[in-house]
Amino acid sequence: MNIKNKIMYSKNLTNTIIKNIKKTVQNETRYGKRPPGLAVIWMKNNTSTEVYIKNKKYACKKVGFYLEEWILKNSTSEKDIINLIKKLNKNDKIDGILIQLPLQNQINTRRIIEHIHPKKDIDGFHPYNIGCLCQKNPKLRPCTPKGIISLLKEYKIEIKGLNALVIGASNIVGRPMSLELLLAGCTTTITHRFTINLNKYIKNADLIIVAVGKPNFLDQQKFKKNAIIIDVGINKISSKDKIVGDVNFDSVLPKVSYITPVPGGVGPMTVVTLLQNTLDAYQNKHYYHSFQ
Ligand code: GUN
Repeated sequence: MNIKNKIMYSKNLTNTIIKNIKKTVQNETRYGKRPPGLAVIWMKNNTSTEVYIKNKKYACKKVGFYLEEWILKNSTSEKDIINLIKKLNKNDKIDGILIQLPLQNQINTRRIIEHIHPKKDIDGFHPYNIGCLCQKNPKLRPCTPKGIISLLKEYKIEIKGLNALVIGASNIVGRPMSLELLLAGCTTTITHRFTINLNKYIKNADLIIVAVGKPNFLDQQKFKKNAIIIDVGINKISSKDKIVGDVNFDSVLPKVSYITPVPGGVGPMTVVTLLQNTLDAYQNKHYYHSFQ
């Protein structure tokens, strides 16, 4: 295979999704109906957060969503955040509530997420939405894992039955990713910092999702020839002012069947999936008996 055809750029797919969402918003609002609304809540506590928020805000504006931004002081209390969420839950202009993570250490993130109404939980992090995904009944689904599945579909990569390995067990990526892969029919393994003999799992995997946040974590010696590699890492190399993934891209490229680049692979999929989830919440596609 031509080496270029192995690289799963997301640009074409993200452009198509953005175009379609923009068109849907134009149609929905043509006769005076309000546009989909997203509330973005964040703290200026790390440089990655600022980059993520900038990209998410830009994408929302591009498709014509209504956006409310709440930049919290690092000293904001848990109680104040919960009160803000309660107000946004009741706000009819808002379909989705995004709380960019991480928050400051003094805040109990779990408690905050549990206060978001599951219908407005466009990140899919509420235990109700995670539980539905776990029980093969997906509602609002975490953006990065759902975006990765969309990208695999776009490239017509059949993953049913594959040995899939998720490296990293975070609530944002690793855990929901494993549920998505299970849903798609993979035999799924999650490894994490306490895993003994990680290489044993890497050697056996047909599809590897790497989400550890360490440059060059995966290199070519370790994995099966023709494996599919999905790189979720977004690591800033400050000396070069450059973003790199968790995979040593150049060294693994000859050995893989497919690989996502960084930048230009998974990152933009996360952003457009957030738009899709917000539109879904607006169109109220998900009926939640227990939360009516
Ligand atoms: N921090 C890093 N990725 C994400 C994400 O997808 N959603 C939220 N809310 N916070 C993040």
